[in-house]
Order: sequence, then structure tokens, then C-alpha cells
Amino acid sequence: MEEQNIWENRMDTLSQFDYVVMDNFLSFEVLSNLKSYFSQKENQDKLDKAAIGATGDSKVINEIRGDYTYWLDKSRDEQDLWLFEVLDEVKSMINRFCFLSLSDYEFHLALYPEGSFYKKHLDQFKGRNNRMISMIIYLNENWHNGDGGELKIYPEGKEENIIAPLENRCILFRSDVLYHEVLPTNKPRKSVTGWMLYQPSPLITVSP
Ligand code: OGA
Ligand code: NI
Repeated sequence: MEEQNIWENRMDTLSQFDYVVMDNFLSFEVLSNLKSYFSQKENQDKLDKAAIGATGDSKVINEIRGDYTYWLDKSRDEQDLWLFEVLDEVKSMINRFCFLSLSDYEFHLALYPEGSFYKKHLDQFKGRNNRMISMIIYLNENWHNGDGGELKIYPEGKEENIIAPLENRCILFRSDVLYHEVLPTNKPRKSVTGWMLYQPSPLITVSP
């Protein structure tokens, strides 16, 4: 199937079900590059405990989410990380086939240590309503039944679904409506996670 048709089908599924799962998502080269980038940041101890909203209370945070993150920066990392060209393509495919006007994205590496989870939530929250589409690519080789760490999704009016965080599996879903959670993981669980953003441009430009 032609590349455009593949994307058209994926975007149809996203529009119809509020999510789409895509296996074997990245090319071998981009995946390898991403995995070595991840290991490098992990070895350099660059991943920090993720926060939530306004609270800095680590006990409260731990009861909600247990992941460690490292935010990507295109201008800083473009040479080292080949993923950005894929993210640009995804953004333009969503704009073309879902008729959105996404203007930007924000992504982080995420590591869930053994025993951690992320309780049921929506990614679009009050005061931060510019997250339109959530996107996750999993990086877990040899993930087996019983390893836990599944993404559980709650599509409106439809059956819940459990998605294993298999290497090179990608999921896109609507940030404003799709409730989801990360079930407790029994092994360290890696992903790159982010959001396609809608940033309305200012209506009035003030010139000097
Ligand atoms: C998130 C999230 C899900 C996952 O970071 O907001 O819900 O499967 N992640 O990692
Ligand atoms: Ni989420």
C-alpha cells in the first residue's frame, strides 16, 4: 500500500475510535538510533522524576505516577536523534487527514522503574488544553505476558482495551477524551511519549 493510503487509514481509525495502534512503527535505523539515545541519557543520569500539575509533594506524586522523564529539544538534539523527522511527518499527516491545525509538539523519554504505574487520567487538563493528540512509542524488547506495564485505555462507550508496551509499537490517541492508565510494571519500562499541540497564533500582531 502506498504511504499516503497507509496514513489515511490510520487517521480514519483515529477519527473513528479516538485511538490507533501501529506496530513496527519506526524503521530499523530510527529505532536503533532512538534506543541508543535513550541508553545514553539513562547512563548520564538525565531522567528526572516526573511531576504533576501544581503539586511538588513527592508522596502525592508517587501515588499517581512513578515515571522518570527527559524532555527532548529539537534544536539541541536534532543531530543526535533522528526521531524528529518522524514526528514532523506524523504532525503533517494528522493535519492533512484529521483536519487539525497542529503547530508544534512536546516529547519526553519516559522510564517506569519496576513497580511503578500511572493512575487513570486524561492528558488534556485544565490550564493546559493545547494537547490534542498523545503519542507513545514503546522501546521494550522481549516484553512478555506477566511483565505488566500495559497501557489500559477506556474508549467512551466502548470496551476497555489493554495494550502491551511492545518494542516499536506506537499508539496515537485523543488527549481530550481518552482516559487511560499505565498498569504496574514488573520490569523497567521505556517509551518516548509526547503530545501534538495546537497553539493558536495571536490574533493581533503589534508592530513597533
Ligand atoms: C502519560 C501516559 C502512557 C504510557 O505519560 O501521560 O499516559 O503508556 N503514558 O506510557
Ligand atoms: Ni497519559
